[in-house]
Amino acid sequence: MDLTSEPAPTIRQLLDFYVEAGVDCALADVAVDRLTESELVSAPAAEVTAPPRAVRETPVAIPSVARGEMAPTPEAAIASAREAARAAPTLEALRVLLENFEGCALKNTATRLVFADGNPAARIMFVGEAPGREEDIEGLPFVGRSGKLLDRMIAAIGLDRSKAYIANVIPWRPPGNRTPTPQETQICLPFIQRQVELVNPDVLVTLGNPSTQTLLSTRDGIMKTRGKWFDYDTGARKIRAMATFHPAYLLRSPSYKRMSWQDLRAIAKALEQAPTG
Ligand code: URA
Repeated sequence: MDLTSEPAPTIRQLLDFYVEAGVDCALADVAVDRLTESELVSAPAAEVTAPPRAVRETPVAIPSVARGEMAPTPEAAIASAREAARAAPTLEALRVLLENFEGCALKNTATRLVFADGNPAARIMFVGEAPGREEDIEGLPFVGRSGKLLDRMIAAIGLDRSKAYIANVIPWRPPGNRTPTPQETQICLPFIQRQVELVNPDVLVTLGNPSTQTLLSTRDGIMKTRGKWFDYDTGARKIRAMATFHPAYLLRSPSYKRMSWQDLRAIAKALEQAPTG
């Protein structure tokens, strides 16, 4: 058998192969030749260009990990995240802290921070898992296909993005949309917890398993947790929280939309009943 008879793949086929493997964005303008990597290691770091990021003035003290002065251990990153998040007096300060935080490596592969969308004074807050490709490009959560369905879910309870606040547990896109590691989730957790505390909604909706298990501290799966009321304790107040299916899951399994609509009706009713502040 002639092993060389297989035609070489075309550029298109190679690109399709990479996209299928989750490699769908360039991390630098210039390709890195891994075969000569040992030479590159000693090259000045500035040769690999990272996309520019907005750095704004902040009124809060930024811990050394957040200032990017050292590569932290995971434990140091989690401790620093807790310390930094706790100190953020406003959502804008929290956003600035995240822009400057160097404790989570996802920041290095993401295009930009995806902090939130919607109204910070909203009575309802939705939290997903992590941004995808479209969100990473636009810097806003839920703007892709599942975002369109989330908009319809929000419309089903008579609201739109001007009356809801939307964020993710992880604010940077994991490369190739891979599942965030437990360590990455633990590092980002204090920030989303502080975000919930600062928005202080009447109702918190967790979208899908990862967000539900992380924020509502349960190991049960979404089939068990959805449609039930939880108390989300910020320390200062207990917020009513409900889990429902992630819109991306509903796109793949539309037969669960009926259950999700039931959850949304319960959420609408709770909003009607909750005293408006
Ligand atoms: N999925 C999420 O969990 N969050 C987004 O922002 C987009 C898709």
